[in-house]
Amino acid sequence: MRLAAAQPERSALPQAFYRDPDIYRQDIERIFLNSWLYAGHQSEVPNVGDWFLFEFDQESVIIVRSAEEEFNALVNVCRHRGSRVCVESKGCSKLLRCRYHGWSYDLQGQLRAAAHMGDSFDKSQISLKKIHLAVLDGMIFVNFAERPADFNMIREGLADCLEPYDLANAKVAHRESYPIAANWKLAVENYAECYHCAPAHPEYSMGHGLAHADSRTEHLYQQVMSRAGACGLGDQEVNYMYLAAPAFGADYAFERYPLIRDHITGSEDGSALAPLLGTITDYDGGATDLQVGPVTFALLYCDHVVIYRFTPLSIDTADCDITWLVRGDAEEGRDYDREKLTWLWDVTTHADKTIIERNQQGVNSRYYVPGPLSEWEDYTWKFLAWYTDLMQTLDE
Ligand code: FES
Ligand SMILES: [Fe+2]
Repeated sequence: MRLAAAQPERSALPQAFYRDPDIYRQDIERIFLNSWLYAGHQSEVPNVGDWFLFEFDQESVIIVRSAEEEFNALVNVCRHRGSRVCVESKGCSKLLRCRYHGWSYDLQGQLRAAAHMGDSFDKSQISLKKIHLAVLDGMIFVNFAERPADFNMIREGLADCLEPYDLANAKVAHRESYPIAANWKLAVENYAECYHCAPAHPEYSMGHGLAHADSRTEHLYQQVMSRAGACGLGDQEVNYMYLAAPAFGADYAFERYPLIRDHITGSEDGSALAPLLGTITDYDGGATDLQVGPVTFALLYCDHVVIYRFTPLSIDTADCDITWLVRGDAEEGRDYDREKLTWLWDVTTHADKTIIERNQQGVNSRYYVPGPLSEWEDYTWKFLAWYTDLMQTLDE
């Protein structure tokens, strides 16, 4: 793609990348239908037969718990004449029955019942199509590609960092979708930098060192490194603190940074929000930024986790889907207050929605010219460089 090849270093993208329907289709085909995407947490389907729909572009996938420790991602297209099989957003059943003519499938997607099909009809040859599914500490990821990138690499790379949080035994305290009237790339570009944090997010900036990371806060990084043992991180994982991903779109990234002004977690006043996760024994004054695949991010505090996933709904609308996780045995009302738990990232996401939408409005103008990026937009640049490289390499 000539436009991608012409992309100057450390600069925003030209307007076409946010407006051109052909480029948008390529985004879908090349990136989203070939990447690991967060679908949900296993606690959302606690019993065998529980399922929920993961919908993307023209696709709908039934994420079902098919056995105690087994999940399937079944394409929600009936093998008879193609109707959607499941139509509600979630449910529970041992058989998935298409309402058009009643064909019924088991939890492996195998056709089990189909009336009036004649003696020669062999049900055993027919099943719902499947896409790839992988579980990372309870977090379910799916991939539409026929031969997706190896998820084990991600799992192995993050094993030590995630272990103390025991997210397989966490549960969803709240999940919410925030539609943003902007191209998905503007949402990811915004998420990837904290240049805007101080002006746009007073609530976040109050407690998070990332909003102020410079030589004056170096000692805070040292401090949180020295306390990281409290949340079960050994030397090796602590050393990840300065390691942002080698490149955006690499399969994962992990970075720890300090909370400030005595904040121990991501709450309004900095105080505890929920029981400590997993095997963590104390608040260490740090928080972790995590990335899995190109559009799923998470913030790991000692007592809760916030998962972000950005996907396009159309060329100029993105969905920001947020999941709040707490310890599996925590009870709402007794151990945590849902309003307090979700306050910071709800307020921050509303502010982000506003600035991202204004960004799209400006980018739509005939006077828009891509400008230079600051020193604080390294990760945004990594995203843009990864994106433009990908658009070129796949042409070759
Ligand atoms: S389309 Fe599903 S049973 Fe006919
Ligand atoms: Fe933001």
